[in-house]
Amino acid sequence: MTILVTGGTGYIGSHTAVELIERGYEVIIADNLSNSSESVLDRIEEITGVKPKFYLIDLTEREPTEKIFEENKIDAVIHFAGLKAVGESWQKPALYYRNNITSSVVLAEVMAEHGCKKLIFSSSATVYGEPKSVPISEDFPLSTTNPYGTTKLMIEKIYTDLATSDKEWNITLLRYFNPIGAHKSGLIGENPNGIPNNLMPYIVKVAAGELYQLSVFGNDYPTPDGTGVRDYIHVTDLALGHVASIEKMTEPGVHIFNLGTGKGYSVLEIVNAFEKVNGVKVPYVITARRPGDIPMCYANPDKAKSELGWETKLGLEDMCRSAWGYAVNKLKK
Ligand code: WQD
Repeated sequence: MTILVTGGTGYIGSHTAVELIERGYEVIIADNLSNSSESVLDRIEEITGVKPKFYLIDLTEREPTEKIFEENKIDAVIHFAGLKAVGESWQKPALYYRNNITSSVVLAEVMAEHGCKKLIFSSSATVYGEPKSVPISEDFPLSTTNPYGTTKLMIEKIYTDLATSDKEWNITLLRYFNPIGAHKSGLIGENPNGIPNNLMPYIVKVAAGELYQLSVFGNDYPTPDGTGVRDYIHVTDLALGHVASIEKMTEPGVHIFNLGTGKGYSVLEIVNAFEKVNGVKVPYVITARRPGDIPMCYANPDKAKSELGWETKLGLEDMCRSAWGYAVNKLKK
């Protein structure tokens, strides 16, 4: 089977490409390199022995997207490509709507024209907004609090309408919780440009001495230690959730799954685990809450377990050790 992975030089896309290649799939990557580097293709080759065919394209443009399908017989698409920084989406909402929505619609139109109607979409737990309770199940109410999250929700609705109007579509919406960690080789990992927005890449840069200290955004939440609780999932477990979706996506229609561990950890629990596992210090200071943050968010992962036969295998220690291992590997270069 040939799988087109859009955003495949990015964090989750590259880890998924590795797992697919190692299971015998042919992987083609399309990316605009706006938040990643073409050198990731060489890292994928170092890990798997295979360098994926690569298209440097802007997926909002129809012609280059059509070229991929004219030159290759694509059996299914995993659509990761998109802008994903919550804070930036408030600074540039029009860019986020144009880029994320237009690319998702152009992709689906071109797929349909070429008879390819198997699509996995990279969605996010952010579509649940502030949940009324935890753990969160797929049938919980949906609401969003920022343009980034709203693009994810809108694309879910667009794809759901496609599947309603054309029964041949087989669409899987995967709602990720908080992916962290890196491939066990230390060759690929999370490598955001500039100052990280997310917790783990920020912790890594503080431990590496690249940033002075971590700001813990509030310790007055209604949580066990007052700091925010999230469902952190190892990026390799997340990648394997996509493999399971490809293997199980036999029935047409729309299939929705949470990809999380079902366990929540607080900011301070993550800091302490990272320090203990890696023998490093992560100085921090408690600061004000970050606008838009919610107190607690973690998954009920039962549906993915029962219908995909998928569950997470890697724990917090693996997540912390691999995140640091990737950073140390980069520092050596
Ligand atoms: C986690 C916890 C912060 C940074 C976002 C998106 C979500 C997904 C994952 C794309 C929170 C705290 C963080 C820091 C801190 N992205 N924190 N200091 O906000 O749960 O989710 O990223 O799909 O859609 O919404 O992740 O890592 O930013 O924050 O105290 O410097 O760490 O308050 O409690 P978040 P995060």
